[in-house]
Amino acid sequence: MCTLNFLMIPGKMVTFAVLCMLVRVVCTQDCSTCQCCADGKYLKCSIRGNCNNGCIDGYYGKNCKYKCTSQNCLRCHRNYGNYCQKCTPGYYLYNYNCNDCGSQCQSCSSYGCNSCYDGYWGSTCDENCAQNSTLCRKSDGYCLSCGSGYYFYNGKCTTCGIHCAVCDPRGCTSCHVGYWGSTCDENCAQNCASCRTSDGYCLSCGSGYYLYNGKCTTCGAHCACCGSGGCTSCHNRYWGSTCDENCAQNCASCSKSDGYCLSCSPGYWGNTCENPCGHHCLECDEQNGECISCEHGYLGHPCTECSRDMCMPQFDCELCTNISFFANGGVCCLCSLDKCVSCSKALDTVNCKICKQGYYPQSNGQCGFCNSYCFKNECDSSSGVCLYGCINGYWNKTCDKECEPDCLSCNQTDGSCSQCKNNTRHGHDCRQECSATCKNSKCDNNGNCINVCIPNTFGKQCENKCDGSCSPKDNRTSCSEKTGMCLYGCQHGYRGRFCPKDVGNKSEKQTLLTAALGRGLGGGIMALIILAIIAMVWFRKRRRSNTERNTSVHDVLRLVCS
Ligand SMILES: *[C@@H]1O[C@H](CO)[C@@H](O)[C@H](O)[C@H]1NC(C)=O
Ligand SMILES: *[C@@H]1O[C@H](CO)[C@@H](O)[C@H](O)[C@H]1NC(C)=O
Ligand SMILES: *[C@@H]1O[C@H](CO)[C@@H](O)[C@H](O)[C@H]1NC(C)=O
Ligand SMILES: *[C@@H]1O[C@H](CO)[C@@H](O)[C@H](O)[C@H]1NC(C)=O
Ligand SMILES: *[C@@H]1O[C@H](CO)[C@@H](O)[C@H](O)[C@H]1NC(C)=O
Ligand SMILES: *[C@@H]1O[C@H](CO)[C@@H](O)[C@H](O)[C@H]1NC(C)=O
Ligand SMILES: *[C@@H]1O[C@H](CO)[C@@H](O)[C@H](O)[C@H]1NC(C)=O
Repeated sequence: MCTLNFLMIPGKMVTFAVLCMLVRVVCTQDCSTCQCCADGKYLKCSIRGNCNNGCIDGYYGKNCKYKCTSQNCLRCHRNYGNYCQKCTPGYYLYNYNCNDCGSQCQSCSSYGCNSCYDGYWGSTCDENCAQNSTLCRKSDGYCLSCGSGYYFYNGKCTTCGIHCAVCDPRGCTSCHVGYWGSTCDENCAQNCASCRTSDGYCLSCGSGYYLYNGKCTTCGAHCACCGSGGCTSCHNRYWGSTCDENCAQNCASCSKSDGYCLSCSPGYWGNTCENPCGHHCLECDEQNGECISCEHGYLGHPCTECSRDMCMPQFDCELCTNISFFANGGVCCLCSLDKCVSCSKALDTVNCKICKQGYYPQSNGQCGFCNSYCFKNECDSSSGVCLYGCINGYWNKTCDKECEPDCLSCNQTDGSCSQCKNNTRHGHDCRQECSATCKNSKCDNNGNCINVCIPNTFGKQCENKCDGSCSPKDNRTSCSEKTGMCLYGCQHGYRGRFCPKDVGNKSEKQTLLTAALGRGLGGGIMALIILAIIAMVWFRKRRRSNTERNTSVHDVLRLVCS
């Protein structure tokens, strides 16, 4: 009804609160419309507003409009609010007023307390039971039962003894944990937590021990879980029935029964955790050693030292200022590949670009030895091209090609033979035979005979026969191996250095002509001198004497020639 009244008033929130308070005050006191009349056999409320069956608890008056005035009163006199007739629980009626039963009184009536809480006695329950007694008679405090550790004897509670839990006048029936004996003054055996009161037989062990054959046996200092049957699990790094064996080095946990390694300490991997993770690697896969996390300041696989300081340009970081570093997603990381001087990263793999001396980057991105067929084993550290060519028998820039099987050595550009194993052969593959006219069939790679021909042949490959007109001498060759010139003159009927059969050789004729001309010229001058001398002598003689006139030409000639 209050709610209804309130709801019918239109208003704001503030008015709501204020009104509600007002309404409530009115509500609890306003019994004007017979709300406080009790139900009963008569009409509840008369026309005048009188209650015919009396009031509900707590109200009084003809119309039951008033609240009882007596304190802690449940029901009061119909006409007098200060005359209480029934009290609320915990109070008792005395002289029309309600009085407190008292805090130790369990229930009370107008005559006072009916029963006390445990430990108290007396009409108002304000007396304590005798010391160490838990329950005593309300009327006189006679002890009825004792607290734990005391026994009832002769109307009193007597102590059982310091370690006794339950006792009777004959003695202890149960001791505190850890003691035994009729007076509970014996300690249970060492490490035994509890034992039988009668004989001290151990029933349970202290922490870290287990019961075996009635005795407490240690589970071991490194036992993690000590069960009733012994140690069931060891602390990390230990194994064995009493956990006194160490797991293998670097093994974080191992099988309790046989020590088989189950997990590695951080930084190690392998079946027995024998392998350290890579350089600067904090944690790696225990099966394959692949690095999972790197030390601070290191990145990638393997963990390499990284920093932003060497980036070029500084924010894009495409290159690094130091060639020992390579750009790696915004930072420069140290190249740590084996034997590598400078790396680069592409498609998530780091490849070496320049290796240390004696090595070169191979197709897998790692540095490998220079080809062993490189002369001096040295090659360009980025291309692998042999620096000083190949050793005999190999060719191409990296000396990866073998010369033809018959070559001793070959051209390093195209692999053609430059020297044959068998010097009776020649050609780009040393499969061509040397000319049979070469002495011992030996020739150079061009097919030219080395040094000498067999007798009576000449030319670079001894392909020509000496002229048949050359004079033979013993079994020696008759002409020069180089020029074919006859060495021992011509056979009868032939002339010249080459003893040609046909004198009509033009150039030979010319040579002969020149020779003849030379001789003729020389002869003419001689003849002139002789003639001049003859003339001189002849004139002198004529001047000297005329008798000598008949001197013959013969004489003159004799003179000149003598
Ligand atoms: C009650 O017990 C205490 C110690 O537990 C003892 O000192 C005292 O004497 C006992 N009182 C009586 C009345 O036995
Ligand atoms: C480049 O880095 C390497 C490795 O940290 C260092 O040894 C070398 O001195 C650096 N070179 C230059 C030019 O700073
Ligand atoms: C010679 O070596 C290069 C690489 O250095 C290679 O590409 C080429 O195929 C080789 N030549 C022959 C004829 O195999
Ligand atoms: C090897 O062969 C190349 C081309 O075939 C040629 O240019 C070069 O002169 C040859 N080298 C030698 C030493 O014969
Ligand atoms: C060299 O070649 C000749 C013929 O071409 C052959 O008779 C001879 O046995 C060969 N010599 C060697 C050492 O192979
Ligand atoms: C042929 O020459 C060899 C030496 O080259 C010599 O021993 C031999 O006696 C000569 N034969 C004749 C018939 O002169
Ligand atoms: C003619 O003489 C020249 C040079 O002396 C020589 O090369 C040539 O073979 C000779 N010809 C004949 C047919 O003998």
